[in-house]
Amino acid sequence: MTKATDFLTVVNRSSRHDSAPKHVTGEAIYTDDIAEPRDLLHIQVGMSEQPHAELDLVDLSRVLAAPGVIAVLTAADVPGVNDVSPVGGDDPIFAERKVEYVGQAIFAVVATSREAAIAARRLAIIEYTPLPAITTIEEARAADFKIAPSMTFCQGDVSAVLPTCSHRSQGCFAIGGQDHFYLEGQIAMALPCEDGDMLVYSSTQHPTEVQHLVAKALGQRDNSITVEVRRMGGGFGGKETTPAHIAAIAAIAARKTGRPAKLRLDRDDDMVMTGKRHDFLVDYDVGFDGNGRIDALRLELASRCGRSLDLSNAINDRAMFHADNCYFLENVEIISHRYKTHTVSNTAFRGFGGPQGMFAIERVIDDIAAKLRIDPLEVRKRNFYAKGGGQCTPYGMQVEDFVVDEIVAELESSSEYTERREAILQFNRDNTLMKRGIALTPVKFGISFTAKHYNQAGALVHVYSDGSIHLNHGGTEMGQGLFTKVAQVVAHEFQVPLDTIKITATTTAKVPNTSATAASSGSDLNGMAAQDAVRQIKARMIAFAAREFDCLPENVVFAHGKVFAGSFEGTFAQFAKLAYLDRVQMSAAGFYKTPKLDFDRNAGKGRPFYYFAYGAAVSEVAVDVLTGEYRVLRADLLHDVGSSLNPAIDLGQVEGAFIQGMGWLTTEELFFDNGGRLKTHAPSTYKIPAIGDRPATFNVELWSKGRNLEETIFRSKAVGEPPFMLAISVFSALQMAIEQTLPTARLGRLDAPLTPERALLAIEAMKINESPPSG
Ligand code: MTE
Ligand code: HPA
Ligand code: MOS
Repeated sequence: MTKATDFLTVVNRSSRHDSAPKHVTGEAIYTDDIAEPRDLLHIQVGMSEQPHAELDLVDLSRVLAAPGVIAVLTAADVPGVNDVSPVGGDDPIFAERKVEYVGQAIFAVVATSREAAIAARRLAIIEYTPLPAITTIEEARAADFKIAPSMTFCQGDVSAVLPTCSHRSQGCFAIGGQDHFYLEGQIAMALPCEDGDMLVYSSTQHPTEVQHLVAKALGQRDNSITVEVRRMGGGFGGKETTPAHIAAIAAIAARKTGRPAKLRLDRDDDMVMTGKRHDFLVDYDVGFDGNGRIDALRLELASRCGRSLDLSNAINDRAMFHADNCYFLENVEIISHRYKTHTVSNTAFRGFGGPQGMFAIERVIDDIAAKLRIDPLEVRKRNFYAKGGGQCTPYGMQVEDFVVDEIVAELESSSEYTERREAILQFNRDNTLMKRGIALTPVKFGISFTAKHYNQAGALVHVYSDGSIHLNHGGTEMGQGLFTKVAQVVAHEFQVPLDTIKITATTTAKVPNTSATAASSGSDLNGMAAQDAVRQIKARMIAFAAREFDCLPENVVFAHGKVFAGSFEGTFAQFAKLAYLDRVQMSAAGFYKTPKLDFDRNAGKGRPFYYFAYGAAVSEVAVDVLTGEYRVLRADLLHDVGSSLNPAIDLGQVEGAFIQGMGWLTTEELFFDNGGRLKTHAPSTYKIPAIGDRPATFNVELWSKGRNLEETIFRSKAVGEPPFMLAISVFSALQMAIEQTLPTARLGRLDAPLTPERALLAIEAMKINESPPSG
């Protein structure tokens, strides 16, 4: 018999992703799987082949005359404003007189089949007058060609302290970008409805922005556009701003033809046309003592933003926010330059600039260790923030919840770091053709959107009179398990089994003015909003039960699928029916906004984050000295997700993020030629990690002591992005292995991604530097 004291624990426990069986069987419905409406038209985009040029002639007459073609679209066909930018006002849907990157949309062809559209777009005649193009950070820096003003964070006095330091090192290196390589490419389908309304299915992390930008492109009010997404086949930040462009083209086609229209980019078009992770150039000048303690650091970050602003300010800000990582920098200057180039506009990607900033400081640490010839882990520990909040970040926020010292101590012992490092040093003395490396690197990642107004969320919960529950909220599902987690929250609050909750597609018609599902904050924000909605409904149900069954409100208890009130005991369904008959409102809109945030961007000081997420990883690698090829032999990950809402899902996030981070730093190389053309635009040349690249031994754990000091949803912590940066340990381990090929030589500059080719070149360069001058 269930008692009023038997509570169901639906949160803080593992349950599988709600769509897992459907993902595996192929039954999960993605945007391209939605049953196609009658008269559906298919769209393809005609793109610029020049990085920077005047458009002299765009002759689409042959395109329009091709079989199956119903319409062609150019800037002149945009009924409203020809712009889909999130902030800058600088992202034309179709180029007007000028193109500014290879891949920029010039026109679209709308046809009765995909094949007809693909064949027709080749018939366009486009003539250009090329203009001088700036495609790299180096060129943009030389020309002082910026997309936004530079920013600086300062603490202490670098100029005074740096010259007095007993040890000093300067260096520079490059950090490559990354393609999102979501399995489902960009796609939207627009259906014209009555009165000019438009329903848009979009694979987007940000339905509200798609709604607003489609409305702007059509010259209509926001309330005439509805955007819906049930799930994405991955987003990783690549579907935060870009989907508005895809959806706007589909909506313009639907408006012009009066027929439903779908635009799905194939992989090559997707890779050429859409933005990626920002690549960076980093310069540093560091002063430190004989123990590796950093006394002063000047760090200069320069990024390639591409042709428009997009989210580059927030992304470069976040790079600055993470350039301290876990280290207290008493005297520091972090300078950030945001360069404009005639390449695709770079955009959000898991970590949102944080990985680039964190990688930079970790390279500085490895350099200090190499100069002092000590274990880099010692240098890391010597620079950790103190516990308890006495010390400030370079942006003036106290680090109150610092736990990396504890995580590192646990991991160091569980991974047998010290013993293995000794064994590896011995291995390297005994072997000339294979060298091994090991590294332990920590992560501290700030949780909250740095734009304060983004930190809000809404939810909509209905209880039907049969006791079944409908859940909707502003977050989107991209594989990360958000829908399962929020459903867990609702089930737990109502004390009903998880399968009582119907998870429904995100739509702008149910919850308005939502933020992107991004910044890892999906469950923090939407979980709280859903909890608020449930508590409103429960409060009304409790008032009813106290009245009806003549008991105190505090004696109305929801437990284990039942409701207890005075003499009443019934299932949740029986109780819901009674509440309905008594005319209790069983629907509520919930809302949440994150407290405590206060950052002054002009001053570069304040509290941009509600809290930090922490973790650490140890990676061990082996490098073939003759070829530069390598493998990750073992990785041990220990990550803090607070009190996990769902450990199974969180473990999946930690594993996936690490592997994706490893791809970024090792094999994924975006190669642009001198004309700004991306040459690696398919899996044949762009190498994401394959299943065989997974470390042979892969120990992944959630930190058992984890608990959020702040009042987040069930004391959990955000997990989506932070573990991405655990992969920095792979790069550091590779550096150690490479250094050990010639322990007496100095390792030169190491850029990311550290492809096997780069590893081999670094090894060969050490040999050249070491050999005595000839002749
Ligand atoms: N996991 C999967 N499977 N697919 C994704 O696209 N995106 C990542 C992360 N994990 C992503 C993912 C990124 S960039 C973010 S910001 C978060 O999930 C967003 O979801 P959350 O806020 O609900 O964690
Ligand atoms: N993180 C991720 N996405 C964002 C952010 C952020 O801080 N700000 C705006 N979009
Ligand atoms: Mo994630 S880059 O914040 O979508």
